[in-house]
Amino acid sequence: MSMPRRSEFDPVLDFVAEACKRLVHDMDDRPVLYPDADAVARSFDGPLPEAGVGAVPALRNLVDDGWRATMAVPGPRNFHFVMGGTTPASLGADLVATMLDQVAYTWITSPLGVQLELTALRWLQQLFGLPEAWTGVMVTGASMANFVCYATARQWWGERHGVDPAADGMHGLPPMPVLTSGFVHASTLKTLGMLGIGRRQVQTFAADETGRLDLDAFREGLAALGGAPALVVVNAGEVNTGAFDPVADMVELARAHGCWVHVDGAFGLFARVSQRTAHLVAGVQHADSVTVDGHKWLNVPYDVGYAFTRDHGLMARAFRYTADYLPSPDDPRPTLGAISPESSRRARGLATWATLAAYGRDGVRDLVEHTLDLAQHCAAQVDAAPDLVRNADVPLNIVCFRFDPGEVSADVLDEVNARIGEALITDGRVLAGTTQYRSRTAQRPAFSSWRTRTEDVDLYLEVVRELGHEILASVRSHQRV
Ligand SMILES: Cc1ncc(COP(=O)(O)O)c(C=O)c1O
Repeated sequence: MSMPRRSEFDPVLDFVAEACKRLVHDMDDRPVLYPDADAVARSFDGPLPEAGVGAVPALRNLVDDGWRATMAVPGPRNFHFVMGGTTPASLGADLVATMLDQVAYTWITSPLGVQLELTALRWLQQLFGLPEAWTGVMVTGASMANFVCYATARQWWGERHGVDPAADGMHGLPPMPVLTSGFVHASTLKTLGMLGIGRRQVQTFAADETGRLDLDAFREGLAALGGAPALVVVNAGEVNTGAFDPVADMVELARAHGCWVHVDGAFGLFARVSQRTAHLVAGVQHADSVTVDGHKWLNVPYDVGYAFTRDHGLMARAFRYTADYLPSPDDPRPTLGAISPESSRRARGLATWATLAAYGRDGVRDLVEHTLDLAQHCAAQVDAAPDLVRNADVPLNIVCFRFDPGEVSADVLDEVNARIGEALITDGRVLAGTTQYRSRTAQRPAFSSWRTRTEDVDLYLEVVRELGHEILASVRSHQRV
């Protein structure tokens, strides 16, 4: 008989508690990636066991071996993409959510799960200064939050044309115009594709190669709509340099033309919590919908993002979910699964609620300002280094720069900088990605974890320079540059 047994819980939980404590403390010293990570990950492949090994041995295999094939996402030296760390309170709450196995679909499946999601969302509205009359919902991340907001915008747009797109589809409707800047994030294109709006409907009004908004062209684009309803996407925090669209201007202009205005503030909305950066997102409260992530700058564990819109009714029509065995749409108790894509849904509210309860507005501001300081420190170190060149201003938490010791052609520098990005992965001491900025390859560390210290930033720059010189020497020896 190899059914699960009640007697397994105590040894499993003791084992996991000890393992978690060890792993969470090791985060400060372990490499971000281990050189044998690929081999370790593949060692877990194999045929389905006929007889299981038992709970603790399975977990021992997972924890004792498997952790070498993980990225130290909650550690202090992961500057790749825009990945947040994990606060102790949110880690604890997320473990509790898993233990309680709550389904935050509707009130009766988890009164606590639904209440904490609603409370945490309202606290976030207060944190970011978004209207309290808006409706929020938690999803897996900013991509799905964008999906929710665009589905709501599509519903609004269809109804403006006398059609209910969720009920009748897009048949017979004109293409839905979408206007934005060149800062638009890939997840907007992906979700517009998923919604049948179409990624090719996006008109980008970019002034130059950086993607920065051409305000006059945008104005003309709005005028060319001739009053037809359209979606405007405002980008608050782009991924190469942390730059912002002119939020207040875009929102005001778009509203004057009767558009639905969405602000993608996956990480950039956090600018709102510090007086140093709040001006970057001034006016966001006049938009129609807003996206922000929890697993980025709020440092809540993966996965959670937040969608806010001004119109609950549109969300309910876009995500209508009814059947005789489900709660009636008229039931006054909240059904979060009927205003968002997932029906069965994890109790994501617990982790967000716990971090806001534990650290409050002051704690979030301190976290944001700590990482803003780290970005400025990084920028100053780059400026002082003879072999690094900064590419852009640092308005937020991303530093865009290039390894460039001088007297090397731009094409060779592209190759060297791309190879630095690859070498960081195998080196493992620190991790950050590369990007294309003004058609040239650049480094782009993003600082978003409370655990990062100044010395972690210094180590990152040291490693980039060390690898940069090694790679350049090897390129030179092959190419005689
Ligand atoms: C501006 C912006 N929007 C959306 C996303 C997608 O977020 P997620 O990975 O949480 O779905 C990101 C991710 O980096 C982002 O930076």
